[in-house]
Amino acid sequence: MALLWRRMKVLVMVIVVIMVNLFIIILICRKNGQDKGELNKVHIPTKPFWSKVVPNQAYWNLQQQFLDLQNNPILTANWNTNWLKDTALISDSCHPDFKVTTKVKDYNSLPGRFKDFLVYMRCRSYPLLVDQPNLCTDPPFLLLAIKSLAPHFDRRQAIRESWGRSGILANRTVKTVFLLGNTSEVDHHPDLSDMLRYESTRHHDIVQWDYRDSFFNLTVKEVLFLGWIETHCPDAQYIFKGDDDVFVNTYSILKFLSGLSSPKARDLFVGDVITNAGPHRDKKVKYFIPESMYVGVYPPYAGGGGYLYSGDLAARLHNVSKRVALYPIDDVYTGMCLRKLGLAPEKHKGFRTFDIEEKYRDNPCAYKSLMLVHPRTPQEMIKIWAWLSDPHLNCQ
Ligand SMILES: *[C@@H]1O[C@H](CO)[C@@H](O)[C@H](O)[C@H]1NC(C)=O
Ligand SMILES: *[C@@H]1O[C@H](CO)[C@@H](O)[C@H](O)[C@H]1NC(C)=O
Ligand SMILES: *[C@@H]1O[C@H](CO)[C@@H](O)[C@H](O)[C@H]1NC(C)=O
Ligand SMILES: *[C@@H]1O[C@H](CO)[C@@H](O)[C@H](O)[C@H]1NC(C)=O
Repeated sequence: MALLWRRMKVLVMVIVVIMVNLFIIILICRKNGQDKGELNKVHIPTKPFWSKVVPNQAYWNLQQQFLDLQNNPILTANWNTNWLKDTALISDSCHPDFKVTTKVKDYNSLPGRFKDFLVYMRCRSYPLLVDQPNLCTDPPFLLLAIKSLAPHFDRRQAIRESWGRSGILANRTVKTVFLLGNTSEVDHHPDLSDMLRYESTRHHDIVQWDYRDSFFNLTVKEVLFLGWIETHCPDAQYIFKGDDDVFVNTYSILKFLSGLSSPKARDLFVGDVITNAGPHRDKKVKYFIPESMYVGVYPPYAGGGGYLYSGDLAARLHNVSKRVALYPIDDVYTGMCLRKLGLAPEKHKGFRTFDIEEKYRDNPCAYKSLMLVHPRTPQEMIKIWAWLSDPHLNCQ
C-alpha cells in the first residue's frame, strides 16, 4: 500500500514537471510568434541610445567638443541644441572674443598670458610681413625651420654658419628658414624692423607674421608654418622644426633619413617624446594650465626643442589642425593633432632636449651620433659644428 502511494506521488510530480515545461514552451512559442510578426517593422528608439554628452566645464575641452560636433554633425542628435546656440563660438574669428571673460569662471584671477590667449584663441590667420616665396623653388630634401624671436640675431647667424647652413650637405639639399612673429609695443621691444629687413634681404631666410611673438602664441606660429609649407614648400621631403637655442647634428639627421624605408618615411615623426604627461597645476611653473582651461591627460608629444617629420605628414597635420582647438603649449598641440590623425610621435634617443651629462659636453665624439642637444649658445654651436666637420675627427 505504502509502495503504491509512493509511486503515485512520483507520478504526480512527473506530471506536474511536464505540465510546467509545456507551459513554458507555449509561452516561448507565443513570444517568438509575436517577434516574427514584428520582423518587418523597423525599431526606432524614441530616445538616444548612446550616453548623453554633457558640456565640459574646462574651456579648451568645450571648444574641442564644438569642433568635434561641427565635424561630425550626426552627434547633434544627442546634444542639447539650446546649449549649443548659447555658446556658438566655433567660427574662425580674429575679432577679440570678450565673451570669454564671463565664460571662463576664474578669468579675472588668471595670469595675463591666459587672458591674452583666451581672447584670441579662435584666430589662426595673421598677415605675412616678410615672406620667402622662392625658398623651395628647388625642393629641399630637408627643410630646417627654426622658431626664433626678432632680437635673436646672433643665434640665427650662428645657425647659418654652423648646422643650419643652406646648401648641399652629404649630397642632400638643405634649406633653412627662421620663423618669426612681430615684436610688440606692449612687450617694450625696441623697433628692430629696419635691422630685420636688412637681415632678410641679406640672407633670404626670414618668414615673419604680424602677431605678438609670445610663448603662448607659439601654437599660432606652428599653425601658420604648416600653412606656409602647404603653399610654399609642399615638396620638402623632411622637415626639422626646432628652437634657436639647440645644436642639431645635421649630418646625423641626414644619415638617419637616408636609411629610412618608405612606409616608415611617410608617417615619420621623431623627437624626444613625452608620454603620460598632463597639465601642471602649480602656478609657478612655466607650463601651468588652470583646471578651468583644460582637464585630461596629454597625448604623447615630442618636446618643442626640436623634432623631425615628413613633408607628407606636414600636409596632414595642417589639414587636421583645423579640427583641433588652439592650445597654449605648442608641442602639446602638435601631439594633439597627431593623435587626431591616429598617429603617435616616436622617441629617438638622439634627441637630447634635456642635454647630455656634463662630463661629456666638451667631448667632440659625444655629439657624433646625436641628433639634437639643448641648450647651446651661438658660440658653442660654432665650436661643436667645427668638431663634427673636421675630417680628422676620429671616434671609433
Ligand atoms: C648624390 O645624390 C644623387 C641624387 O640624389 C645620386 O644620384 C648620387 O648617386 C649621389 N651621390 C653620392 C656620392 O651619394
Ligand atoms: C610690428 O611691431 C612694430 C613694433 O612694435 C610695430 O610698430 C608695427 O606696427 C607692428 N606691425 C607691423 C605690421 O609692422
Ligand atoms: C597673440 O597674438 C595676438 C596678435 O598679435 C595678440 O592679440 C595676442 O594677445 C597674443 N596672445 C598672447 C598670449 O600673447
Ligand atoms: C584633408 O581632410 C579632408 C577631409 O577630412 C580629406 O578629404 C583630405 O584628403 C585631407 N587632405 C590631406 C592632405 O590629408
